[in-house]
Amino acid sequence: MAERNPFTPAFGTVPPIMAGRDRLLAELHAALEQGVGDPNLSSILVGARGTGKTACLTRLCEDASDAGWVSASSSAIPGLLDDILQQAQRASAQLVKPKPQRQLTGLSVGPLGASWDMGDEERGNWRTRMSALLERLNARDVGLLITVDEVDASLSELITMAVVYQHFVRERRKVALLMAGLPSHVHALLNDKSVSFLRRAQRHPLGTIADADVRDALKRTVASGGKTIDEEALEICVEATGGFPYMLQLVGYRSWQSALGKAEVGKEDARAGMRAAQEDFKEHVLASTYRELSAVDLRFAKAMLPDKAESRLADIARRMGVTSRYASKYRGRLVAAGIVEELSRGVLRFAIPGFRKYLQEME
Ligand SMILES: Nc1ncnc2c1ncn2[C@@H]1O[C@H](COP(=O)(O)OP(=O)(O)OP(=O)(O)O)[C@@H](O)[C@H]1O
Ligand SMILES: [Mg+2]
Repeated sequence: MAERNPFTPAFGTVPPIMAGRDRLLAELHAALEQGVGDPNLSSILVGARGTGKTACLTRLCEDASDAGWVSASSSAIPGLLDDILQQAQRASAQLVKPKPQRQLTGLSVGPLGASWDMGDEERGNWRTRMSALLERLNARDVGLLITVDEVDASLSELITMAVVYQHFVRERRKVALLMAGLPSHVHALLNDKSVSFLRRAQRHPLGTIADADVRDALKRTVASGGKTIDEEALEICVEATGGFPYMLQLVGYRSWQSALGKAEVGKEDARAGMRAAQEDFKEHVLASTYRELSAVDLRFAKAMLPDKAESRLADIARRMGVTSRYASKYRGRLVAAGIVEELSRGVLRFAIPGFRKYLQEME
């Protein structure tokens, strides 16, 4: 019988076992159960590439339907408003029959005479149409969860959507907005004056995952596919993962492939898996991250290389031959891009596993 590899090293795929996101998912699930007024109903997931933003959004949409919500999921691309409306209409179609386009609402008897109701969902601007849909849903105590992935502040439709959403919240409608994006994009969105209220949205950083959670998820994922994993092999995989969700899937997938036909993933499989995963990671993440750096970003990053693990901003500035103030501007850019993380004031380290080594190789 063909073995099915249980790991999911593809972007946007929900893994069978989500490592280290239990608290976040529980918190957002509780908000959906709680309903109107819960601050987590307006949330933004922030994380570097491959930290699992899309996976979390997808998982939460699944959760939402158990908690009595329908969801409309989209990404911040042109056509966003229309897409959300259509997704919302489709999702609610089973629950609420749309009004026929033309309906005779009154006969020519009585004081009002005859009037035609065209159905607000079919005409009017986006807000009017969404309001009509929300009214029908909310009348049955069903909420609407809107998710927007890959936020991009330069998309005017996203700004329009956020402003209208604020009105829905003020009108106490049962509606939630869950967005996700790269740190720099979220940062730009929150600095847009027209959506300053979004700064009050709950921000949830998707950081690195603790080794204990990685270990547990690797073990359980291997078990879900019907194999076991040797203790030493497990440690090799944990170490190679470096707390990075995408890497967890790559290492797991490659180690499993190496162990095809065997009941256990052994040490040698883990070693081979680690090497293959590092190559994949280099190609899919490190190379593209490197290409996105500006010349000064790159100088800043290279000025971190002489340090073993952590770097001080003052040392970086000295090596670059610039003032700390100038260097701190570039620190902000690299932190916002999720490449560097600030451990404490002025103490920095690379946030993407293997990026230091990659930079050294590129020197
Ligand atoms: N909590 C997790 N535990 C284990 N694997 C995960 C977890 N979250 C995501 N993954 C896996 O990591 C990979 C990347 O996930 P995802 O596509 O959701 O990341 P992303 O943050 O949306 O990336 P991008 O910024 O490129 O859109 C996928 O292979 C997914 O299956
Ligand atoms: Mg994504």
